[in-house]
Amino acid sequence: MSKPPILLTRRIPQAGLDLLDRFCEVRMWEKEAVVPTEWLMEHVPSAKGLVCLLTDQIDKPVLDVASSLKVVSTMAVGYDHINIAECTRRGIPVGYTPGVLTETTADFAFALMMAAARRVVEGASFVKEGRWKTWSPTFLLGQDLHEATLGIVGFGRIGQAMARRAKGFSMRVLACCASKQVGPQDEGLQDVEFRDFQTVLKESDFVSLHVPLTPQTHHLIGKTELQRMKTSSILINTARGRVIDSDALYEALGHHVIAYAALDVTDPEPIPVNDRLLTLSNCLIVPHIASASVATRSKMAVMTADNLLAGLKGERLPFIVNPEVYGNAKKERA
Ligand code: GLV
Repeated sequence: MSKPPILLTRRIPQAGLDLLDRFCEVRMWEKEAVVPTEWLMEHVPSAKGLVCLLTDQIDKPVLDVASSLKVVSTMAVGYDHINIAECTRRGIPVGYTPGVLTETTADFAFALMMAAARRVVEGASFVKEGRWKTWSPTFLLGQDLHEATLGIVGFGRIGQAMARRAKGFSMRVLACCASKQVGPQDEGLQDVEFRDFQTVLKESDFVSLHVPLTPQTHHLIGKTELQRMKTSSILINTARGRVIDSDALYEALGHHVIAYAALDVTDPEPIPVNDRLLTLSNCLIVPHIASASVATRSKMAVMTADNLLAGLKGERLPFIVNPEVYGNAKKERA
């Protein structure tokens, strides 16, 4: 029997690729660059399955020509790059990778927080530049994490994992979110204090963002919100770049309205090398690597392949964004 043709917009870790190769006729965009729209538009019409990344816009024009498509599977937990409503309208299930990257992403958000608080990157540059001449009682003083207040905006899986880590550092944890409150079964989270968004901004020494990008969270952090934060506060973003208004952040950092920002995600991505944020000494930017551990990326690739293969077989995807394609089921959680 012939294998179903599928499209990959990038090479994914081998474990996932092996699975796909075994069961599918794989056509892949081989370069380490975002797949060109023309290539996608040329090849998607014959594809039964599409594996994509958060860098690819799977929007109406793409879906309009994807007449054979039975399933879309993204190697990401965030799916703001896919027009879910259009997929659902066409009966196309969309797979994603929740749960598997929670701890790795929280590790990284915590790493950013520590690096920012204790000025790790500045210290490393100082040494490399040959400027380390003596130990000094007043040099590169940072902020303590222990006993400080961490404000978590968005208390889903990653926000909760962040709270568990903060507890190990004796931090006070404030959280705000639309739904999740802590229950007695939530080990390590009982001390989390739920507050409204404004209070979290006002009382926290560190604010870490863990919301998905939606129309409601677009520019959730703008001028007003930054002004509400402490002048000593540090903002961490491992969610999506567009959750922050970058112009407002530039102004706030430049005028020391807040002390520092550590960003794994930017708007746009990649951030242009001449972006104003890169001129600031109180802004640390890394290239969207929060889930980038060997083990986690491999698991994400397998999960992506499993979702795709299930869709090709007409089976329910193990991790699905739009279960409404199957009827009235509720969105599944990992
Ligand atoms: C990473 O940002 C993801 O959505 O998986």
